[in-house]
Amino acid sequence: MEKYYLTTAIDYVNGAPHIGHAYEKILTDIIARHYTQRCDDVYFLTGTDEHGIKIQKTAAEKGITPKELCDENAQKFKNAWKALDIDYTKFIRTTDEDHKKIVQKIFDKLLKQGDIYKHSYEGLYCTGCECFLNPKDLTEDGLCPDHLKKPEVVKEENYFFKLTKYKDAIIKHIKEHPDFIVPEFRANEVINQLEDIQDISVSRAKTNVKWGIDVLSDDEQSIYVWIDALSNYITALGYDTENPSENFKKYWPADVHVIGKDILKFHSIYWPAFLLALDLPLPKHIFAHGWITIDESKMSKSLGNVISPTSVLESFNLEHPDAFRYYMATSAPCGRDGNYSDDDFKEKVNAHLANSMGNLLNRTLSMLVKYFDGEVKEEFKSENPLAKKALGTVQIVKNHFDNFEIAEAGLEITSLVDAANKYVQDTAPWSLAKEGKMTECGQVLVNVLDIMCIIASLIYPYCPNIASDMAKQLSFDLNTKLDDLKTDNIKCGKLISKEDIKPVFLRLDSEFADKSAKKS
Ligand code: MSP
Repeated sequence: MEKYYLTTAIDYVNGAPHIGHAYEKILTDIIARHYTQRCDDVYFLTGTDEHGIKIQKTAAEKGITPKELCDENAQKFKNAWKALDIDYTKFIRTTDEDHKKIVQKIFDKLLKQGDIYKHSYEGLYCTGCECFLNPKDLTEDGLCPDHLKKPEVVKEENYFFKLTKYKDAIIKHIKEHPDFIVPEFRANEVINQLEDIQDISVSRAKTNVKWGIDVLSDDEQSIYVWIDALSNYITALGYDTENPSENFKKYWPADVHVIGKDILKFHSIYWPAFLLALDLPLPKHIFAHGWITIDESKMSKSLGNVISPTSVLESFNLEHPDAFRYYMATSAPCGRDGNYSDDDFKEKVNAHLANSMGNLLNRTLSMLVKYFDGEVKEEFKSENPLAKKALGTVQIVKNHFDNFEIAEAGLEITSLVDAANKYVQDTAPWSLAKEGKMTECGQVLVNVLDIMCIIASLIYPYCPNIASDMAKQLSFDLNTKLDDLKTDNIKCGKLISKEDIKPVFLRLDSEFADKSAKKS
């Protein structure tokens, strides 16, 4: 594997980030970190989607300019991702000058080659979706099914993209590449949507939507959000209609676009059609994750249950975001909806990170200090009964990641931790020491510590801070590639002193029990 290019959806900046946005960025960061353990060149793109009627309206309500609103909120997204240790390569904003310039050129090229044409149109526009809706997709009461709001009747002369021209090619691509849309069960939905697809509006009259990128050849129209937004995946790399950059040639096509299930249509129908029109290869995978609910309810301003990711870190006094990252990433199987609740969060991270994983390392190192003054002797190296399971877990985790099964991979790691805990329970090194069987006792401890190195490596994408604390106490190099992992990791000699043993994760104990994430 030479390179790995992955992207998130770019978030609308009409508000601050919530834990739904955070879920996607955490999943993508975990995938990115996993692939850094398999290849040297990972490019991770995220950013903000800053044009459109939604932003124009919110700015007007607040009495500020759209640009001021974008600047203020884009910074909130950046701050949140910093707090969550989202280690992106580039943060693109669709108001960036170089992005806008290339979007204009893309539009112009498609117009000149006849893929875009002007057409008078009357349709139902949903501002929440930032798109025209098909009347047959509305609820019985005539509302948008996602936003439960009545769409506006819009009559305008717009530019249209010939989506219908690419319909057959896209259906063929989806059928020939069963792993193009992940999870696979969503591919049928897309094929059904493709059946009655129509050409789509790609511009709006400036009289209605001022906050957009100008159409070069028509000063009455601005480019409509989706062609602007989707193009970020190539403009960020330095794509140009005439002379694409070396960077673009190196990273495109994307290995995966990570997005929510609500915007799958735009990514698996519109985006491939734009790319085919530009004569560019299609991304390898579109991974549509599910939605996060709060205490089993949809997150919404009207319900007052919107939670900001940083409020979770603050309320629980977390010194780093690992517990929250782990909880979110394992909250739902691939593509399914997940849920956040304060109680479940506490319970799960206490059980998995503190009691099972952290405690195992702490106990084992403490015994090594107590019985052997932290010294690993040559004779402690022995055949490790956990070796096969550990190396098998590495393979299973890799396979899960190749299928974007992030929660499933997390459970495999937990199961390896459980196996190591059971081994300690079964072999009872404290009893071996009491019986004077010191070599056997040392062997058990070193077997566990050898496996803890593999666990540190596997948990790293989810919990980079905890993994780094584990690796430090094990004198293990966390930069070891997954394919180079072995089961003999602990070096002979002094490993650790009592004062250097520190718990890698403290329980969110009763002191915090009355604290809960602030709803904004
Ligand atoms: N701007 C568009 C995406 C353009 S991508 C070229 C957009 N923005 S958004 O802010 O509404 O959503 C950004 C991402 O967050 C989407 O992938 C969306 O699915 C995801 N989520 C928004 N709310 C969510 C939850 N409650 N749960 C999980 N993800 C959610 O759509």
